[in-house]
Amino acid sequence: MPFVTTAEMFKGAYAGGYAIGAFNVNNMEIIQGIADAAAETRAPLILQVSAGARKYARHVYLMKLIEAAEADTGLPIAIHLDHGEDFEICKACVDGGFTSVMIDGSKYPFEENARVTREVAEYAHSRGAVVEGELGRIAGIEDDVSVSDEDAGYTRPDEVEEFVEKTGVDSLAVAIGTNHGAFKFKPGQTPRLRFDILDEVARRLPGFPIVLHGASSVIPKYVGIINDTGGALGGAAGIPEDMLREAARRAVCKINIDSDLRLAMTAGAREALARSPAEFDPRKYLAPGRENIRELVRDKIINVLGCGGKA
Ligand code: G3H
Ligand code: 13P
Ligand code: ZN
Repeated sequence: MPFVTTAEMFKGAYAGGYAIGAFNVNNMEIIQGIADAAAETRAPLILQVSAGARKYARHVYLMKLIEAAEADTGLPIAIHLDHGEDFEICKACVDGGFTSVMIDGSKYPFEENARVTREVAEYAHSRGAVVEGELGRIAGIEDDVSVSDEDAGYTRPDEVEEFVEKTGVDSLAVAIGTNHGAFKFKPGQTPRLRFDILDEVARRLPGFPIVLHGASSVIPKYVGIINDTGGALGGAAGIPEDMLREAARRAVCKINIDSDLRLAMTAGAREALARSPAEFDPRKYLAPGRENIRELVRDKIINVLGCGGKA
């Protein structure tokens, strides 16, 4: 099966009240850990590549590794550009075989965001690829500080219909209180997502797939291993899993996970090296990270995303 777009995946996810995991990939071990978990659980898969990943591993290596994952598992896999910052990188990824690209125009005012998103959508659609846009700023939210939704960077529901209509995007990333990285909430701060905004967006865009970025839970087990082996991740905190399940039951069809993969990989390597300080065979410390990723992704698919058995 060649790579697929996310269109069919999202139809099933929306109707079924589950979400597809979109996992960031940078190297072979990460791709294998994710692919093995998806194969075991028969889950459709989105593997996404950031500009940084593309620079680190190089486009052709990632393409070939993901082709290998597809050949090895027989799963429907979409290959997606994460946070494309301009038309050029989106075009390069579409030309280079990606089936989906994100144009992240969220740093621009509405009109400029809509203009560049439309340009990318026209190009991608003419070549059979699909496009994710973004409205709102995905950042941390101060619990006790009362700011307007606009100042906080939340997506404004009153903008979404015009944006989708003007741009022709196929899915939309929204800002409802998630944040990238391993420090999403301050110590003592109560995690909170704005489901009211999500529901208002969904009411205005019936059946339209919504994307949640910054959705790692920052799994305490892996943070603990990193800290116990000399790491310094005090205060790390992520999105509670019950909130992600709730988002998946609503209009969220794609849930982005990168930080949890990094933590799982790093915990595996640190633990192996702490146990055997004289070890210098990379396979001996990369394999435990790959195994952690397999377990992590399996757990996400079954207990959080709900997409197991949907491939
Ligand atoms: O949202 C960003 C992803 O976590 C990718 O991060 O740009 O460091 O590869 P990166
Ligand atoms: P996390 O940092 O929460 O894993 O978010 C990843 C992401 O949104 C990639 O686009
Ligand atoms: Zn993101």
